Amino acid sequence: MDFTIDTATPAVEQSFAATPDPRLREIMQMLTRYLHDFVREAAPSIAEWNAAIGFLTEVGQWCSDTRQEFILLSDVLGVSMLVETLNGHEGGTEGTVLGPFHMTGSPKRSLGDSIDLLGGSRLCVVSGTVLGVGGEPLAGATVDVWQCTEDGFYDVQQPDVQPAGNGRGLFRTDEQGRFWFRTVVPCHYPIPTDGPVGQLLDATHRHPFRPAHVHFLASADGHEDVTTHAFVAGGAHIDSDAVFAVKKGLLVDFAESTDAELAARFGVEAPFVHARFDIVLTKRA
Ligand code: BEZ
Ligand code: FE
Repeated sequence: MDFTIDTATPAVEQSFAATPDPRLREIMQMLTRYLHDFVREAAPSIAEWNAAIGFLTEVGQWCSDTRQEFILLSDVLGVSMLVETLNGHEGGTEGTVLGPFHMTGSPKRSLGDSIDLLGGSRLCVVSGTVLGVGGEPLAGATVDVWQCTEDGFYDVQQPDVQPAGNGRGLFRTDEQGRFWFRTVVPCHYPIPTDGPVGQLLDATHRHPFRPAHVHFLASADGHEDVTTHAFVAGGAHIDSDAVFAVKKGLLVDFAESTDAELAARFGVEAPFVHARFDIVLTKRA
């Protein structure tokens, strides 16, 4: 068949027709249709297409065991959050991106421990309950948390300043599904901008900041895991997260509390900042 702007798409779609795996066939044919439509509409010059290939090549070259520039690209294009949202579980806490700063093997800590190993300026207690969709508390659930410092850095970004494990903890909920830990109020911070994704943000006049948040990865037997964030309500960049992860249900008041009884329950002294974040897990299908 003669290759023309109009015959290109059916020709390439047809080339995948014998793919044995039906899902792979569907995806490759769909990709062909959308990609060709995109190229026909954008009508890039040869120089522009070479620049696009050069950009993607550079994204790949920045990837290593400790850096995933393709995920970062997916994050800033909103694709990571689109995939998360499409795979959400009805009735459960909404999921968000995992991000590059999660460590497998967070330090195990006891309820009430501090994840702030530096002694920050504003004591904060984060507490909550892990629940099933019917409101039943999930005892023995694991809650993996990680966050940056009051200055906006994760421990892995400052190995000479922060002890490994600062801002991290793996907790297990009590009989009533509760968890609580001491920490500091996190700060907004920029995603890594020293690679091609940073250049893209720069060229498009987009800022690189993520609003202040605490990450959570919660799991319980027989339930779907959830990876999510508690965002500091009203914080800087809350309406323009560089990776589009903010959802209304994940906004949490980090409010000053003068409640001495509550403070005593958490083993701290009032006043302190209190953030309450419950996590709902759906039953595994
Ligand atoms: C984070 O929150 O740790 C993060 C998420 C996506 C990209 C960069 C950082
Ligand atoms: Fe983060």
